[in-house]
Amino acid sequence: MKKIKIYSEITVYNDINELPADIQKLMSQAIVSREMAYAPYSHFKVGAALKLDNGIIVTGNNQENAAYPSGMCAERVAIWAAGSQYPEQKILQMAITARSEKHLLDQPVPPCGACRQSIAEYEIKQDKNIEIYFMGEVGKVYKSDSLHDLLPLIFDSSNL
Ligand code: THU
Repeated sequence: MKKIKIYSEITVYNDINELPADIQKLMSQAIVSREMAYAPYSHFKVGAALKLDNGIIVTGNNQENAAYPSGMCAERVAIWAAGSQYPEQKILQMAITARSEKHLLDQPVPPCGACRQSIAEYEIKQDKNIEIYFMGEVGKVYKSDSLHDLLPLIFDSSNL
């Protein structure tokens, strides 16, 4: 028997202003998308913006439903929009932001487990890492260089 340690690395930016200019722009588009979220039940709005290899930016936000599990997270709305409209384009970066109508979100809000698994599928498919930047409404922005930093021990087709 032995124990193994799994290493993850996250870059921490103090706020949106510390991000590189192109990522600030991507995060701004995630913010615009966030405000168009349909979240009448949770009052928790999430926006995501993806930058593709061809420079196009694809956005998505959470879409809720009175039958709660029928709703969908912002990250999967965005990544499936990109996968369905630009199947040949690699996804380079993803920016995510969340805002609650109940309290100020001043800590980075990471993608949920199901979204991580969904994003991982595309990282494996395109054989290129996807950088993810995520924040709340204000404050620090976390960046992971690859899904492997957010989802160690990824389940993929090699496990089938
Ligand atoms: N949500 C997202 O859009 N992304 C996540 O990664 C976590 C949660 C949404 C789903 C639901 O509409 C609301 O946030 C509250 O869970």
